[in-house]
Amino acid sequence: MTTEIRTPAIGADLERLDGPAKVTGTAPYAFEHPLDAPAYLQPIQATVARGRITAVDIEAAQALEGVLTVLTHHNAPRLASDDDRELWILQDDQVHFRGQYVGAVVAESPEVAREAASLVIFTYDQRTHDVELRADRDDLYAPEQVNPSYATDSDEGDVDGAMAGAAVTVDQTYTTAMQHNNPMEPHTTVAVWTDAGLTLHDSTQGVHSVRSTVAPILGLDPSQVRVIAPHVGGGFGSKGLPHANVILTALAARVLEGRPVKYALSRQQMFFLAGYRTPTIQRIRLGADAEGRLGAIAHDAVEQTSRIKEFAEQTTVATRSMYAAGSRRTSHRLAALDVPVPSWMRAPGECPGMFAPEVAMDELAQACGVDPVELRIRNDPATDPESGLPWSSRDLVGCLREGARRFGWEGRDPAPGARREGSWLVGSGVASAVYPVYRMTGSEASIRLGPNGRYAVRIGAADIGTGTWTALTQIVADALDVPIEAIALEIGDTDLPAASVAGGSSGITTWGSTVTAAAQAFRAQHGADPAEGDEASAQTPDNPDAQQYAMFAFGAHFCEARVDADTGEIRVPRMISVFDAGRVINPRTARSQFLGGMTMGISMALHEVSVMDPKVGQVVNHDFADYHIAACADIGELEAHWLDGHDPHTNPMGSKGIGEIGIVGTAAAVANAVHHATGIRVRDLPITPDKLLR
Ligand code: MOS
Repeated sequence: MTTEIRTPAIGADLERLDGPAKVTGTAPYAFEHPLDAPAYLQPIQATVARGRITAVDIEAAQALEGVLTVLTHHNAPRLASDDDRELWILQDDQVHFRGQYVGAVVAESPEVAREAASLVIFTYDQRTHDVELRADRDDLYAPEQVNPSYATDSDEGDVDGAMAGAAVTVDQTYTTAMQHNNPMEPHTTVAVWTDAGLTLHDSTQGVHSVRSTVAPILGLDPSQVRVIAPHVGGGFGSKGLPHANVILTALAARVLEGRPVKYALSRQQMFFLAGYRTPTIQRIRLGADAEGRLGAIAHDAVEQTSRIKEFAEQTTVATRSMYAAGSRRTSHRLAALDVPVPSWMRAPGECPGMFAPEVAMDELAQACGVDPVELRIRNDPATDPESGLPWSSRDLVGCLREGARRFGWEGRDPAPGARREGSWLVGSGVASAVYPVYRMTGSEASIRLGPNGRYAVRIGAADIGTGTWTALTQIVADALDVPIEAIALEIGDTDLPAASVAGGSSGITTWGSTVTAAAQAFRAQHGADPAEGDEASAQTPDNPDAQQYAMFAFGAHFCEARVDADTGEIRVPRMISVFDAGRVINPRTARSQFLGGMTMGISMALHEVSVMDPKVGQVVNHDFADYHIAACADIGELEAHWLDGHDPHTNPMGSKGIGEIGIVGTAAAVANAVHHATGIRVRDLPITPDKLLR
């Protein structure tokens, strides 16, 4: 008997296993699945923000050669459930937001479908709409809970008393912009309706959640719906739940029974129908002693939702756990408007919600005359202030120290506007990041030894560009103690065992724990020398430590900003971030996740804003010409580093989740650096040159 000592696959700098298929164009995305004689769908969108459809004229459209069907609320198949009003489309004459689906044309070609859609005439009885978010609205309300299930408000100690007795206070209001998710691959659905049921090729972060959501709406048993998504061209939360495009395409496929119907949203449609990040108005109050030790933190957020479906972003929840202050208060208030339904966008809650407090901490540091890195270290809590639980691991201090060292923070002149190089004002800024460690329930994995000596590992997980194909293979290889080559992973199909959605940075914690449990079951049942055909499966195990420890990933961003003194042009030539994210499964894909988050955060800081026109009732910059997302020329040198960590409590791998932490706090670091460069405190995002030219 020999004992082989294998190098762990976890931690190996493995290239993406799906890389060759992607770069050679053989990895099928939703729209590309080869199907016989597909038809193409072009939607028709409401041109009023609120009202009622009074007449529809489809005659000219129907007469066009190549048109297969024109769907409106008059003839669309009936849906079985109106529980989700975002998905209850083409069922009545009501218009709830501008851009809502009111009809669709399906034709032999996309060109004919588009031409025909332009010929359909809708007449509306338009009513006055209201799309303006303001903190002084008299109809703001407290939701029952905030996403996904946090308490709406929290109140600990005596904030007003602590503020009154504080040596130094900050009381400011900050705003963040409405933003739209725009993954490289837009939302896409291909639907085929046969006697057996409905097959969907959908660009989604979770095939099983699409099935469980749409089946009851379509009046089907979940077993009659199959959803397939082996490769997804990016998803930042907007693909975490199915949107109305899935229902619209399925309705068309039902009408054209047997014929596949393809629909990919245009970029313009992405600004109406795929969710978005709510704008926020956040008031922060900090009270500290003369050395900057916090006695009070209050964080009150106002944000928007739609009238037809509530989404309550958890903007102030991170504040409850971030810093040690004896008195803490947080709240969320919503305005329900005639707008599309807001939803998840990379670190919903933490991302906009850490902008305000992390800029406020910079303002406090300045007011106290304490270095902003030191201020954060001084307020690092020994246990979770919210739950009272010990941390599973928390090394924010290590992130701050290591980041400061790498950035060259020491010796920084704290005076704002003190450094100038030619026409450039130069400054540096820091901000902290935090993101919870989530584990979803109800996933299952199976393992079967195949004829070729390879282990077929099956779980309906998603790879949205994050590296799941590779990282899960590494995890299960270690759990079975076999080489990477012995693993044949299958994901992205409801024919596989059920899996949770790729959301909340929970994928690897959830699916990794599940495949590890399946591997342990396999070895327990079949030993080290199994036979072909041996199999085992397991459900996601409970983690009893989740009740005993507060689990979060942490990070610290350091950035340099340069502002042209004459034009207000803003540049971020470098950003160095250090993360405490537990054990890193694959450094190559992890770095890519961190850098992607940081890039999106710089984009949020300087560029991204969806401009709502209150008069028209829609986002007016609804394309890539007017909605700018950071391009290569906007991004300087980025470095992502991480502390060697292995959290003993989060999951068997010791990881913490890395998809979202990179964007949290990034915009605050940029804002703080811009202040250090110029002396101008910009409290509303994005930071554009006009805000610096006073
Ligand atoms: Mo992420 S916004 O939880 O998909």
